[in-house]
This record gives sequence, C-alpha cells and structure tokens, in this order.
Amino acid sequence: MMSPSHSEPVTSILAAHRGQPGALLPILHAVQDALGYVPDYAVAQIANTLNLSRAEVHGVVTFYHHFRITPPASHTIQICCAEACQSMGAERLTRHAEKSLAQVSEGECELHPVYCLGLCANSPAMMIDDQLHARVTPEKFDRLIKKMGDGK
Ligand code: FES
Repeated sequence: MMSPSHSEPVTSILAAHRGQPGALLPILHAVQDALGYVPDYAVAQIANTLNLSRAEVHGVVTFYHHFRITPPASHTIQICCAEACQSMGAERLTRHAEKSLAQVSEGECELHPVYCLGLCANSPAMMIDDQLHARVTPEKFDRLIKKMGDGK
C-alpha cells in the first residue's frame, strides 16, 4: 500500500501542471525525473487527475521507450555498439559484460547498448553512470565494475 509520503512528489507535480493543456507528457517526464520511473500508483493518480483511464496513461508510458515502469538499477552501464567500437571489439566486450554482470546482485547494474559516445578514436568505449571510459578491454571492464562495487 502506498503511503502519503510516497505519493507526495506525484501530488506536487500534478498540482504544478493543473489546467495545463497537453499536460500528460510533461507530467510523465517530471514524475520520472523525480522518482526514476513511473510507478503504478503514479499512473493511477495521473489518470484520476487528468480524467483519463489508467489504460490510456499506461499506454503512453509504454509507448515511449524513455519511460520506465520499474525502478532503475543503482548503476547504468552503456557499451558503445557503433561502427568504430564494433571494429575494436565491442561485441566481445558486451558478451563479457553480460557474463560478468550476471554475477552482480539484481538491481545493481543494468547494461544497455549505445550508439557512439564520441570516443571513436579510443574505442571500444563505455559509460558507467555519467563516467566515460575509453579503450575498454574485458579486463579493464572487470576492474571498473569492481571499483564501482567498492564505491570508489
Ligand atoms: S563509435 Fe563508439 S564512441 Fe563512437
């Protein structure tokens, strides 16, 4: 059951957009910015406030890849899969990353492909949260993940 403090950010966001035409997308962006995702209770609150059905709001949330319906992992890892990085072993690195991350506890890391991080001359490239890393080998990947786990 949702506590009042749980829904408070959503209530404030809805109040800030009261009466605004076409408010659904700005509200969804604001909720995701505040909470990291759009939880079910927010869908219900938004639907109720905008006089829409939950299915309509849920349909918009799931239509756009940007919106999440589950909480984000603690760390986001993006490996570049664009041409320069592919030619320098990004596929091998991705396979290694998938295996390595299978050992990490659930909800700690999520791995996503990305298409060019602007480090093409130093590929393969990846990003851990907002930190760029160049010339990433499987060994370097493991060191970075270990460091991340140690909170360094
Ligand atoms: S192609 Fe990977 S950083 Fe540009």
